[in-house]
Amino acid sequence: MRKAIPEQVSQTEITFKVEEIEAILSPPDMVIKPWSPMYCDLKQKDGAKKTMLIRSIERDEIPLVLPYIKRYMDIDRDLYDVVGARVYAELLAMLRNRIKDEYFLIGTVDGELAGIANGRLLSEKINISLHTMAFMRGMNAGAVLYYAKCVYCFEVLQQEEFWATYESYNGWKRWGIGMALPTYPYPDVQHELGGARVFYLTRKYWDAYIREYTKQLAGTELLPNPLPELLEKNKQLIIPTEILV
Ligand SMILES: CC(C)(COP(=O)(O)OP(=O)(O)OC[C@H]1O[C@@H](n2cnc3c(N)ncnc32)[C@H](O)[C@@H]1OP(=O)(O)O)[C@@H](O)C(=O)NCCC(=O)NCCS
Repeated sequence: MRKAIPEQVSQTEITFKVEEIEAILSPPDMVIKPWSPMYCDLKQKDGAKKTMLIRSIERDEIPLVLPYIKRYMDIDRDLYDVVGARVYAELLAMLRNRIKDEYFLIGTVDGELAGIANGRLLSEKINISLHTMAFMRGMNAGAVLYYAKCVYCFEVLQQEEFWATYESYNGWKRWGIGMALPTYPYPDVQHELGGARVFYLTRKYWDAYIREYTKQLAGTELLPNPLPELLEKNKQLIIPTEILV
């Protein structure tokens, strides 16, 4: 838009360095406690045991993971397509500094990507759950990754509320129903994912009931302080070659 100037000016054009514009266009992140790696034992349907490490994605791993997530956009099964498309956008936005305070956890088994879970901080008090995906199926990798986000919210960041919504029946069954979560009045309060209902988890409810839920759901516990050997085994990220749905 242009408008007549109200008085004489010494410069009729002012230019900016794109670095200056970047400082305005990229949302400023808060300084938050990082996620420290945790691990759990998972059982596959055939009884085989797998140890999954949950750690934050490294920035230089993002370009390796993006093409794998992209493949899920074409999987019209169990809502992998819409979740894949959104996760791709969120991960790319993280790389391009176009999302505020996103965290992105990856679950790996012997280095191989088993699933992801991401979210972002709306404020110091409220944690927004974005997505969870399981790439190794049938061993509750996704269930535990989602639980890890709650641990991050309540135990590490000491936040007050965790706001989720569910695109898929599996997600809703595992966590919305599984954790018996209430919803905020709808449509007055909408989740940033497509304007769906907000299912919320409060600190009180977490402390009273939900902290133990992962034992019920996945029959496992999320443990801190993985041994150096486990960290070493999972240092080099291996992208799966196949899509299992
Ligand atoms: C939702 C999700 C993260 C749950 O992950 P998970 O806890 O590891 O669970 P799985 O995906 O392995 O299994 C979910 C159910 O589907 C069944 N299942 C479906 N296809 C399966 C397959 N190919 N192999 C094994 N199990 C399969 C499982 O037996 C399980 O049944 P149960 O609920 O009776 O235990 C995962 O299903 C997923 O990534 N879905 C697509 C993306 C999505 O919906 N994300 C959440 C958005 S709300």
